[in-house]
Amino acid sequence: MGICQAIVMIGLLLATVIANHLMKANKLFVVSSVATEIRPSMICSRIPGLSPKQKNICEEHPELINCIREGYQKGADECKFQFRKNRWNCSLLGQISAFDDRAIPGTKEAAFTQAITSAGVVYTISRACSMGNLSECHCDRKSTGKESKRGWSWGGCSVDINYGINLSSRFVNARRNRHDDIFLMDRHNSKAGRQVVKEKLVLQCKCHGISGACSTRTCWKTLPILRVIGKRLKELYHSAIRVEVMMTDTKEGPIPEYLVLGSNKTKKPDFPSLAYMRELNDYMYCMRNETMGILGTKNRICNITGHWKDRCNSLCCGRGYDTHNFTEKSQCKCKFHWCCEALKETLEIQCRCHGTSQSCATRTCWQSLPSSFRKVGLLLKERYEKIVLVKPNKISSHYGKRDAYLTLSSDIFKKPLQRELAYIKSSPNYCDRDAQNRIPGTTERVCNRTSTEEDNCKLLCCGRGYNTHEIVRRYRCRCKFHWCCYVKCNKCKERMEVFKCK
Ligand SMILES: *[C@@H]1O[C@H](CO)[C@@H](O)[C@H](O)[C@H]1NC(C)=O
Ligand SMILES: *[C@@H]1O[C@H](CO)[C@@H](O)[C@H](O)[C@H]1NC(C)=O
Ligand SMILES: *[C@@H]1O[C@H](CO)[C@@H](O)[C@H](O)[C@H]1NC(C)=O
Ligand SMILES: *[C@@H]1O[C@H](CO)[C@@H](O)[C@H](O)[C@H]1NC(C)=O
Ligand SMILES: *[C@@H]1O[C@H](CO)[C@@H](O)[C@H](O)[C@H]1NC(C)=O
Ligand SMILES: *[C@@H]1O[C@H](CO)[C@@H](O)[C@H](O)[C@H]1NC(C)=O
Ligand SMILES: *[C@@H]1O[C@H](CO)[C@@H](O)[C@H](O)[C@H]1NC(C)=O
Ligand SMILES: *[C@@H]1O[C@H](CO)[C@@H](O)[C@H](O)[C@H]1NC(C)=O
Repeated sequence: MGICQAIVMIGLLLATVIANHLMKANKLFVVSSVATEIRPSMICSRIPGLSPKQKNICEEHPELINCIREGYQKGADECKFQFRKNRWNCSLLGQISAFDDRAIPGTKEAAFTQAITSAGVVYTISRACSMGNLSECHCDRKSTGKESKRGWSWGGCSVDINYGINLSSRFVNARRNRHDDIFLMDRHNSKAGRQVVKEKLVLQCKCHGISGACSTRTCWKTLPILRVIGKRLKELYHSAIRVEVMMTDTKEGPIPEYLVLGSNKTKKPDFPSLAYMRELNDYMYCMRNETMGILGTKNRICNITGHWKDRCNSLCCGRGYDTHNFTEKSQCKCKFHWCCEALKETLEIQCRCHGTSQSCATRTCWQSLPSSFRKVGLLLKERYEKIVLVKPNKISSHYGKRDAYLTLSSDIFKKPLQRELAYIKSSPNYCDRDAQNRIPGTTERVCNRTSTEEDNCKLLCCGRGYNTHEIVRRYRCRCKFHWCCYVKCNKCKERMEVFKCK
């Protein structure tokens, strides 16, 4: 959830608290009392894992550091998802500090890590911008009001991605102090990551016009879900290109200047392709090697029948695997201790079959909540039809008479059943407006002439009769998809009669 918000800086003591929160992550904190002002450096210097240059950026924009941290975390989570079946699975990301981007330098895996964390930072900052959470950036309204060629106009809050791109770029590139091979590679890949965010922005539109006729449309750009960006970067990981470093001579000797393709030294890698310098045999990720930061695949769960990288032969690197039988725990014999008789009665039993090739030799079953809350509503409506009139009884005590228990008004020796609905006061007929009791009455209510239920006009209008209105419903119909990418519809209309109580 959004933990990405401005830090309000106050109080010397609180600085440590804030820094501690940042270390632990995932805690929403809002500090709101005002004491002596403190310098941003006091917060930034306490955040672990920042390079000196990153500390400077933090001091310039202390309100953003939480957003950036969330971006790294989102990037790490997405990395773990995309590589959950691979030998290398991003498991070191975020372990030492929230700003951790560890992978073996120069590898394709390092390229992916840089790209996804950089994209994550653009993502969280841009999202915070368009939600109005940051003071430096808002929506991008540059095009607002302009017509597009496809017949809609720009409106709404288009996400302003440039601010996030700028900050992500500065922050991620400030990781390393030396201008070396790895710096050049990281800079390339983090830029590729940011470019993918831009590439994957999606157009969202809203229809306008009388009763949703969609005679005009306004559209704006929003961020996609992060998964879309992760998926695209995984594709780019598979087609990553090998690069080399070109040096330039200076007075201090040759220094790394830019990247070229390994296959054609006159060509620079293009964007958004991912670039790597070091071909690491995937087999390297099999065995634990702490100096290199490789955890190995021992104890990883593999799939005997799988077709992917997580199949046992591949994931276990030929070392074989152990089979463990385990019992899946499911909830059973559930008891409700709180509220909700009706909910309890709508619980459903669900079962799963086991046994050789689904023979269903054994079954395990469990209770689950009803598939739709409507079921609870329907049951309660039934109960409402049979509601019982009750009366409160008082018992005497040293403290005087007090309401103590309910009995049926038809039989004072009987208490209402636990599942019965009960009332103590008869209802008004709800026909006429009664401002005092906040009853709106049924005048102007839409009723149904042929219905046999409560919405029948005679019943609902309480004998006052009804007016007939003719309305024309306009709607979009015969929609066709046009390449690429918009939908064109015809406008259809339909005459309908509507009855409203007098
Ligand atoms: C913006 O701030 C609000 C309230 O402080 C918070 O609930 C929300 O999650 C924040 N949104 C983002 C994207 O950080
Ligand atoms: C970010 O924006 C600042 C101020 O607008 C500008 O000076 C700087 O060059 C930008 N940095 C990058 C990496 O785009
Ligand atoms: C290398 O790239 C250049 C242009 O970028 C191109 O003209 C040249 O044909 C390429 N050489 C090879 C061997 O592919
Ligand atoms: C770890 O990797 C390094 C570099 O490849 C190698 O020299 C070292 O022997 C490895 N250590 C172990 C325990 O395998
Ligand atoms: C990733 O690999 C490590 C080391 O083998 C393992 O401990 C961890 O559970 C794995 N993570 C996932 C999500 O499978
Ligand atoms: C193993 O792989 C098969 C085939 O891809 C798949 O149907 C099955 O769900 C996988 N099992 C697990 C536990 O992931
Ligand atoms: C797992 O359960 C199966 C079937 O009950 C049994 O044949 C097998 O020996 C068990 N394996 C282990 C490792 O306990
Ligand atoms: C009116 O009631 C009838 C009978 O219950 C039903 O078929 C019809 O759809 C209802 N009309 C409207 C507009 O709800």
